[in-house]
Amino acid sequence: MDVPVGITVHPLGNRFYLVTENSTYIIGVSDLVLNLYWGPRLPLDRVLNGNGDDGIAWPDMHGRSSQDPWLTSAPEEYPVFGGLRYGDACLKMILPSGTRELDLQYKSYSVKKKANNLTLTLVDRTYPSIEVHLVYSVDVVNDIIARNMHVFNGTASAVQIELGMSAAWHLPMVLGKRRLIRLAGAWGAESQIQTDALQPGTHLVLSSTRGIPSAQTYPYMAIVDDENGHTYFGTLKWSGNWSMAMAVDIQGNTRWTGGISSHDFMVTVEPNAAWATPKFLAGFTTKGLSGARHRLPNHVLTHQLALRACRHATRQAQLSQLHREMAESAPKHLPVLYNSWEAAGFDINVDQQFDLATKARALGVELFVVDDGWFRGRNSDRAGLGDWFHDTTKFPDGLAPLANYARSLGMCFGLWFEPEMVNKDSDLYRAHPDWVYHYDDRRRSEARHQLVLNLVNKDVKDYLFERLTANIASIGIDYIKWDMNRPISEAGAGLAPENAKQVWELHVQGVYELMGRIKDAFPSLSIESCSSGGGRADVGILDFADQCWVSDNTRPDARLAIQHGISLVLPPRAMVCWVTDMGQSDNPVPLAFRCHVAFMGTLGIGSNLNAYTADQMKELAGWVRLYKKLRPVLQLGFLDWLHYDDRAGLAFTMTTDKNDQQNGKKHAIVLGFRSKNPFSFVLPRLRLKQLEEQVTYNLVAWTTYPTSPISLNPASGAVLMHYGIDASRFLPCSWSSFVLSITTA
Ligand code: GLA
Repeated sequence: MDVPVGITVHPLGNRFYLVTENSTYIIGVSDLVLNLYWGPRLPLDRVLNGNGDDGIAWPDMHGRSSQDPWLTSAPEEYPVFGGLRYGDACLKMILPSGTRELDLQYKSYSVKKKANNLTLTLVDRTYPSIEVHLVYSVDVVNDIIARNMHVFNGTASAVQIELGMSAAWHLPMVLGKRRLIRLAGAWGAESQIQTDALQPGTHLVLSSTRGIPSAQTYPYMAIVDDENGHTYFGTLKWSGNWSMAMAVDIQGNTRWTGGISSHDFMVTVEPNAAWATPKFLAGFTTKGLSGARHRLPNHVLTHQLALRACRHATRQAQLSQLHREMAESAPKHLPVLYNSWEAAGFDINVDQQFDLATKARALGVELFVVDDGWFRGRNSDRAGLGDWFHDTTKFPDGLAPLANYARSLGMCFGLWFEPEMVNKDSDLYRAHPDWVYHYDDRRRSEARHQLVLNLVNKDVKDYLFERLTANIASIGIDYIKWDMNRPISEAGAGLAPENAKQVWELHVQGVYELMGRIKDAFPSLSIESCSSGGGRADVGILDFADQCWVSDNTRPDARLAIQHGISLVLPPRAMVCWVTDMGQSDNPVPLAFRCHVAFMGTLGIGSNLNAYTADQMKELAGWVRLYKKLRPVLQLGFLDWLHYDDRAGLAFTMTTDKNDQQNGKKHAIVLGFRSKNPFSFVLPRLRLKQLEEQVTYNLVAWTTYPTSPISLNPASGAVLMHYGIDASRFLPCSWSSFVLSITTA
């Protein structure tokens, strides 16, 4: 019998096997806790049935010289600061004695079989009541391991943590070179894929110190070995300051660490108290970046849907009849939304929004959202944040009539909030100037004319909870766009000196707590996470938010680049994509192309519908209709990129149905884009993926118009994958695009 998937402990209790469908991760313990293997799944039948030999050697524990201590390059599961360790450490602690080093030894383990969960306990050799728990949980289907660390302080005095990473991962040495994939960006240009050769002697650190994951760098890395497709990939489940380091020594030993950034960080753990890090999710695949795209977004989606079901189930008894019905009938896919921010900015009023709601419904929109500008004093970004009461000039009778109207048309209703912020010009700030992060002897740095509320303060959280829930209940809100439009500064207020540096972490916990309380009170409420676009589109926030706004830039050419990057992490359902008119004056792009780009995730419309002709409205309505038909695949399927070449202006994605096993039928959607065609070259045939060679598929394409489908001859999976489709036919000129639906015949 082979070692089954999940967690298996060696009969001697000194090795642990974390086995997924396609990978094996082996931890060995002596005094130290070492990673012995992480890679393709190994047959381990001899461990359980034979002589217990798994064929994996304990590493040679000799250093190269006295200047290269072995401990520095040892593949320790959780290297601490202390002794002869000079690589990236995971934990640095100041002990009551003043000692600033740890000396951990392995003590015990526990396994929760059903949850696929392993905990290894290490204790300090001198102070054994200081415990470090390394926690692992295994996502068998997606080949992912989630790790974090808990410290328990059983001593009689407080200890201080100066550095507390979530995990260290070790990649096996290889003869050839690997590629490192990461995501970098800026506001309006988020998650651009960067590729570097991972050279020996490299030490690369990525981080954010802004209080949010940030648009500048995204907490994600993938390491690809092109010779065999072996790929390690991962992200942090955390919505605040973070850092990730990839260190490769001259011999190719590779250590990957990550967690909350140690920049301005310190946590005091009182006696008999504990502190835990966020999770670091990492996985392995032999299928290159495409395999990584398949797994991490699917892990995120599966987790999100499970959490949603759980919230509904636990709150079922307390739900109002209306909410219960909504929760029960709620489909897994998300609605098509309309939002007038791009078209109208702050210049909104009740008549205009009623009018837009009517037009949006005619397009087939299912969720009508009022963005910024609806609350007291909010005519520009200079005033109003914090005063979450409707503006009586713009909405004399409040927002309930608009929400009711939207509902009478069959749409849900959504509203924008930026809960963590306050403008100086607001009643809230006038009443509570001390509620923002500040130092009494420093000026308060404003960005977008706003200051950040101190979410460590319970009164602040209670005020926000009351305001948000009062609005949700009285207006009838189904969806909140939760924005966060500036980084945190002067993050010092309100905490005792020994805890002051924990403020960065506690702010994020405060956001999670607020979102969690609101979600518990209104389980069918959806939240979209936004931070000036994609500044907070991380996996941590998706425990509370359903979807993320990934960029304020909705130009279709920009969006292709941004979606190419962020889809390494976010499932399509969580990636909100709007059709707008952005960039049209500079670079007109056909409506079809813009719609097809937005088909890649959860569709939204942000165009100025008042400026649309009857023909444009008709065309847009047709695309919305088609999207809804294809949505179960487009939102809930596996999104892969068949090809992306920005310079050539070419992009192709293929989203594949997950339910193909259920009825033996498969459904896949290919999206194709050509933004330029300077030489009129014929394109190579586009080879598809993930089909069955022997199966025949029906093919229908749409190019410039939603009601003119083009039926193609049925073809076998073998032909489609090895010979390919004639993409040139659908992409004859600049800004041409197509949607191709593929179903089992
Ligand atoms: C941010 C968001 C936008 C919009 C504005 C409103 O910039 O990213 O989508 O909501 O705030 O002020």
